[in-house]
Amino acid sequence: MAQNSDFCSVCNLYLCPLLVNPNNMKQKVAVVRREHFNAAHRLFRKDWSDEQNTSTFGKCSLPNFHGHNYELEAKVIGEVDAETGYVMDIKKLSDLIAEKVLEKFDHKNLNLDVEEFRTLNPTAENIAIVIYNILRPHIPEQNELYIRLFETPRNYVEYPVAPTNFVNPKS
Ligand code: NI
Repeated sequence: MAQNSDFCSVCNLYLCPLLVNPNNMKQKVAVVRREHFNAAHRLFRKDWSDEQNTSTFGKCSLPNFHGHNYELEAKVIGEVDAETGYVMDIKKLSDLIAEKVLEKFDHKNLNLDVEEFRTLNPTAENIAIVIYNILRPHIPEQNELYIRLFETPRNYVEYPVAPTNFVNPKS
């Protein structure tokens, strides 16, 4: 017969995982928010010739810009708060991305409209780094932040690089 002590004082579930193993409280969980924005860009270096830009960046260097449907994932990793059961309120994460990133990037020409890319080539790699640097100061210090940015459904970049994302080919 179930006793009072068999019910978790946090979630009130019978034999919840936290009750069975209190160390679960310390286990880290990743929460991920996916967002979307459209933006135009052109990959080129002003200090290079047209030939060098074209041979390096191909169509991405055409002078009249082109657009992408970017998919952005922000992953926050941390311990589950015993009181709220949250790593981070995902609504707050969503609002943060909307206010700090989408407002700045969505329906913009990255080269012309976004200050960070005045002198920085807006490759997916650099966009991911810029987004990380924008969001990082607003994420609780004890949590980790990872950015994944899809430029096309088949091409994406990740920053910073999490070693656990890679499979050791020898294992
Ligand atoms: Ni492009």
